[in-house]
Amino acid sequence: MKIRKAVIPAAGLGTRMLPITKSMPKEMLPIVDKPVIHYVVEEAIRAGIDDILIITGKGKRAIEDYFDRSFELEYYLREKGKLEELKQVEEIGEMVDIYYVRQKKPLGLGDAILHAEKHVNGEPFAVLLGDDIIVSEKPGIQQLIEVANKYSSPVIGVEKVPWEIVNRYGIVDGTQIDNDLYEVRDLIEKPSLEEAPSNIAIIGRYVLPPEIFGILKKTPPGKGGELQLTDALRILVSERKIFAKRISGKRYDVGTRLGFIRANIELGLLRQDLKEQINALLKELVREV
Ligand code: UTP
Repeated sequence: MKIRKAVIPAAGLGTRMLPITKSMPKEMLPIVDKPVIHYVVEEAIRAGIDDILIITGKGKRAIEDYFDRSFELEYYLREKGKLEELKQVEEIGEMVDIYYVRQKKPLGLGDAILHAEKHVNGEPFAVLLGDDIIVSEKPGIQQLIEVANKYSSPVIGVEKVPWEIVNRYGIVDGTQIDNDLYEVRDLIEKPSLEEAPSNIAIIGRYVLPPEIFGILKKTPPGKGGELQLTDALRILVSERKIFAKRISGKRYDVGTRLGFIRANIELGLLRQDLKEQINALLKELVREV
């Protein structure tokens, strides 16, 4: 099963990051000097995906402009002899084939994914949420694709989270079959600590089969009146085997304030050109508090 296509849902309102998301997509928030979605697209490309569909919505034009060529800017940079910057800008415009579909109303992640049906055209596909960055040697989505290929099954990316925050995630009830791998029995959306069967939480990466579209169409709206992907996955679990793979690497949920700040510091520290200065800055700040 070759996974060639990826879907990046990026049409959510990003209310947890208001007020900035009032006029700016959260997927365009800068992490050091690139928008969040640039890292997500890079992860997909590193995993061998060559066709990306981004689900956008109202107020998300900046995403399309970012991945488009910018001839005026390129002309200006060439004129000024800023060749390093020119190369960077040109490369972004040529990263991969990116297509866009607009979700007219933010009716939930499940609804956003339904908008990919025509583009996906009956193939299994990868989903990468546009607000989760994963830093890992092997791209997060590739880790899932390998499991999907081995078992010819859908795979959900998961991570162990502290028990006190299980109520923020979709939680897996499953049987462990390998060190980092579970066969899913059921999924529970945002359970209380008492209800939670585990602390294995769904994060923003999936490999899904095309059947998910038919299921999504039958799935009634769930929490918040939104069409929830987790509800559709629960139906899928009752029909066929699904696996959950703990992704090795570090995940940043940049759709939250702390996750965003943390990602900027930690990804900055990974940059050779900034590492020393950020280190010095952090030491100075720690001395001050
Ligand atoms: P979130 O649960 O983070 O929701 O969506 P949100 O609306 O973006 O943000 P908050 O909770 O209000 O702060 C998870 C992913 O699903 C996409 C989002 O863009 C994000 O990548 N999404 C969500 C859609 O594309 N459409 C929707 O209707 C809802």
